[in-house]
Amino acid sequence: MRKTIIAGNWKMYKTIKEAIELANGLKRELFKLDNQGIDVVLCPAFTALSEVSEVISESDIMLGAQDLYWQDEGAFTGEVSGKMLKDAGCSFVIIGHSERRQFFGETNETVNKKIKAALINALTPILCVGETLKEREAGKTLDVLKDHVQNGLREIGKEDVLKLVIAYEPVWAIGTGKTATPAQAQEAHKYIRDLLVKLYDQEVAAQVRIQYGGSVKPENIIELMQQPDLDGALVGGASLQVESFADIVKKAAEVIK
Ligand code: 13P
Repeated sequence: MRKTIIAGNWKMYKTIKEAIELANGLKRELFKLDNQGIDVVLCPAFTALSEVSEVISESDIMLGAQDLYWQDEGAFTGEVSGKMLKDAGCSFVIIGHSERRQFFGETNETVNKKIKAALINALTPILCVGETLKEREAGKTLDVLKDHVQNGLREIGKEDVLKLVIAYEPVWAIGTGKTATPAQAQEAHKYIRDLLVKLYDQEVAAQVRIQYGGSVKPENIIELMQQPDLDGALVGGASLQVESFADIVKKAAEVIK
């Protein structure tokens, strides 16, 4: 019903040469997976988008960026627009990653503008939401999720919300080796899905894909994917090596629901 989606967020890693090597390796490894009902998305840094796009052009692997600016063009030094990402071959874009919220002043308001800009440019937004350790320990996890989802999706209609992907990424699990337990992840995903029923309706809640992110590895992907409301993963560190990312994709494909 909901197609599994595994995305690799390469963050600020890989030169162009290294990115081409990684994409080539993944293309070789994942070629056999074509038509097995799984979406695979690679999200390199801006500098490597065009080259990676070329490498994966004759495969089912898709391309995503890690951020965008909401204007199509203009005097906005240092920014990259949705129109430019589309031109570089992207079909996805990560929006509101916790690293951008933490280090670059991203807010629900900017996230919301970016989601709208992505949709206008026919890019699938991957909206990242998730609580910090402090928020979890203060019992505020669900409040934070509600704030990120509700305000991130402000004025986004049903037609559009059906096109996007949500990624639940608890900040305390990112790059720490500490994965949320499958039960913790499921609780958050179920909460987000129930929220979609309230904000939209049952159809939206049943169709929108929710990925989990935070120390996903070949060793934990199966039990995470077995949770009913987990529809895939947004992988950081383990997406930087052919072997570990290909392994995650293959294992996720074994758990197609
Ligand atoms: P890690 O898999 O390195 O914990 O990163 C997760 C992440 O931030 C993906 O967007």
